[in-house]
Amino acid sequence: MARVKTVFRCTACGAEAPKWAGWCSACDASGTLVEELVAAPRQPGAGLVRPSTPVPVAEALGDATEPVPTGDAELDRVLGGGLVPGSVTLLGGEPGVGKSTLLLQALASVAERRAAACGGRRASCLYVTAEESARQVALRAERLGVRTPSLWLVAETALPHVLAHLDALAPDVVVVDSIQTVHDPELGSAPGSVGQVRGCAQRLVREAKARGTSVVLVGHVTKDGALAGPRVLEHMVDTVLSFEGERHHALRMLRAVKHRFGGTHELGLYEMGDRGLVPVPDPSALFLADRQPGVPGSVVAPVLDGQRPLLVEVQALVVPSGAPSPRRTAQGVDAGRLSQVLAVLERHAGLDLGRCEVHVAVAGGVRVPEPGVDLAVALAVASSATGRPVPPDLVTCGEVGLGGEVRQVHRTDRRLAEAARLGFTSAVVPRSAPEAPAGMRLVRVRSIVEALRRPAPEPVGAG
Ligand code: TYD
Ligand code: MG
Repeated sequence: MARVKTVFRCTACGAEAPKWAGWCSACDASGTLVEELVAAPRQPGAGLVRPSTPVPVAEALGDATEPVPTGDAELDRVLGGGLVPGSVTLLGGEPGVGKSTLLLQALASVAERRAAACGGRRASCLYVTAEESARQVALRAERLGVRTPSLWLVAETALPHVLAHLDALAPDVVVVDSIQTVHDPELGSAPGSVGQVRGCAQRLVREAKARGTSVVLVGHVTKDGALAGPRVLEHMVDTVLSFEGERHHALRMLRAVKHRFGGTHELGLYEMGDRGLVPVPDPSALFLADRQPGVPGSVVAPVLDGQRPLLVEVQALVVPSGAPSPRRTAQGVDAGRLSQVLAVLERHAGLDLGRCEVHVAVAGGVRVPEPGVDLAVALAVASSATGRPVPPDLVTCGEVGLGGEVRQVHRTDRRLAEAARLGFTSAVVPRSAPEAPAGMRLVRVRSIVEALRRPAPEPVGAG
């Protein structure tokens, strides 16, 4: 039996303290220290891994960092090609968003490809379920139509057993669902504690590197971020993916928050359906599918999520209200930016919104945290307030400054090209915007006042 000592660990940053205190001396968070039992090291040097051999930097690249495609186009796009052998990826997301579904599908796809390449019933992929029973996962697999013989499944929560399965099956890719529910009895502390989560992840990272196995860990994040595990884990793993979506919408977004083997600018899009997650190759068409052109308060904006241009419909509804401070709601756009745009409209465009409720939403459950949507919000609010629809073939993008000026946003060319691709023929843009893509007329404006007046457009762009 290993000797055990008690320490206090911060659930926010993972720092260790010898005594309990009301705050963490490392990160200043208050009320985050929790008791934890740790086994004292048995012998000096025990558990030390073999030393590495230094090599010239140009020779250190090797060929092990080549990503291997999973076959899931959206996941591969976000990962910059696929899973790198020996890498560890953490997939975070709120409970119920679809993490288990995504990974079961992705593993099935990998297993299918490997089976085609090497044949036989070898367990090329292993799904370790530490949260649900094997039967529950099997039922999900049935619902998803997953029958690949080389995708194996085991319900296991003890880390030593998980490692024994890795020894026995030598899979190429392993999913551990979730890292919060596996535990190592050697570590002493309670399952789910920060020390356990960190200790188990550390071990799995080491094993991934040593075996050249790609390991994917599932990590839960609650709405208030109370669970410390994933944040502590972010430093240990190579890649952190975040899976997001609104509870009442089918749309799911996959992003890389950290990626040692590539950029973090790609966006993966899926729709959750009856038979799992379906990739959305043309999100703009999806978001605009149910639009009613010609309705006051509706404006289409080309926005950028990472590097991916998307067309979204911004809707505004302005209605008179007798309340002393009428309601303002913002769905999908930042509430602070909405207040700012409303203030600019009142001050610079003379729009009287003081006695009106203002509701602004981005259709389809999309979140647009960027300022490029400001001008669309302004035009949508003005359109609803005046009852005058904007032309159905018009898009707009630009940031609205506090002085009422309209500024250019990042990659306006890509945004306009996407709008032109979907058949939009005119765009209200800041004066400094680049040339119009083929088939599109630009209306260049300096200020919000000019945007609302909409001066004569330029001739159609030649591209
Ligand atoms: P799940 O993958 O279990 O989420 P997580 O692992 O992130 O907790 O999936 C959660 C939800 O997805 C669940 O409410 C059921 C729904 N779902 C579908 O709508 N269609 C499907 O084909 C599957 C498998 C799940
Ligand atoms: Mg799950």
